[in-house]
Amino acid sequence: MEEKENLKINHVKKIFKINETQLEVLTDINLDIKAGEFISIVGASGCGKSTLARMIAGLEKPTAGDITIGEKKIEKPSVNVGMVFQESRLFPWLTVEKNVEFGIHENLTSKEKKELVQKHIELVGLKSFEKALPKQLSGGMQQRVSIARALINNPSVLILDEPFGALDALTRINMQNEVLKIWEQERTTMILITHDIDEAIFLSDRILIMGKNPGEIKKEIKVGMSRPRSRNSYGFTDIRKEIYQEFFENTDMDIEYYL
Ligand SMILES: Nc1ncnc2c1ncn2[C@@H]1O[C@H](COP(=O)(O)OP(=O)(O)O)[C@@H](O)[C@H]1O
Ligand SMILES: [Mg+2]
Repeated sequence: MEEKENLKINHVKKIFKINETQLEVLTDINLDIKAGEFISIVGASGCGKSTLARMIAGLEKPTAGDITIGEKKIEKPSVNVGMVFQESRLFPWLTVEKNVEFGIHENLTSKEKKELVQKHIELVGLKSFEKALPKQLSGGMQQRVSIARALINNPSVLILDEPFGALDALTRINMQNEVLKIWEQERTTMILITHDIDEAIFLSDRILIMGKNPGEIKKEIKVGMSRPRSRNSYGFTDIRKEIYQEFFENTDMDIEYYL
């Protein structure tokens, strides 16, 4: 397996111009993420989480500052960063294996492709669903396909932008266990954007809480507990309290969003 690389966000700012007005969405974001770290980002709707994610993925350029992976500055989308969205974004007319294969960017023989696809389908627990079409799968299974597709080029970083937001509570917990398993196996750096505080605590090494107008990182919480984590442990509930506290104390957060 290739070495995974560190991710560095240096003084990143993002201003959108809408007609004549300028909207400063993100102000001076600085972040060092070690290869293989699991980071979650939580924050009110509209605080710039997806914009930050899109910049890391090279889909959007910072107005100032830069983002690097290893020694390389991110200027455009690359195979080194995978992304999963809230909607699975699968091709409805392609089977599971064809959807996963679509992510491959290397020149491989058809035998190599087949093996790589099979390995990733098994990684996400979808063995025997290779020939199924997306509409024949549950929402959780569709997201597993998206994850397989996003990991197929062995990226250094996987960004998950509210990937389980549309799933029911039990499926979500299932998927959290699945992501944990995949992360432990692949050691990809994970950046998870989520509204689910427990999801962030269950999975992350660090949780970043963002504030709004303009978006910035307000607080960083380190989660030192060993995994798998029990959601009812004292350590877990203490961190949950600390995060809720942060939202209640800040009037610029949409707290009702979290209740
Ligand atoms: N392409 C764009 N052009 C103009 N404004 C945008 C664009 N993308 C996002 N925004 C604005 O930037 C702000 C942050 O959006 P977003 O990053 O999607 O927030 P979040 O993901 O935290 O909900 C919002 O006010 C949104 O309307
Ligand atoms: Mg968003």
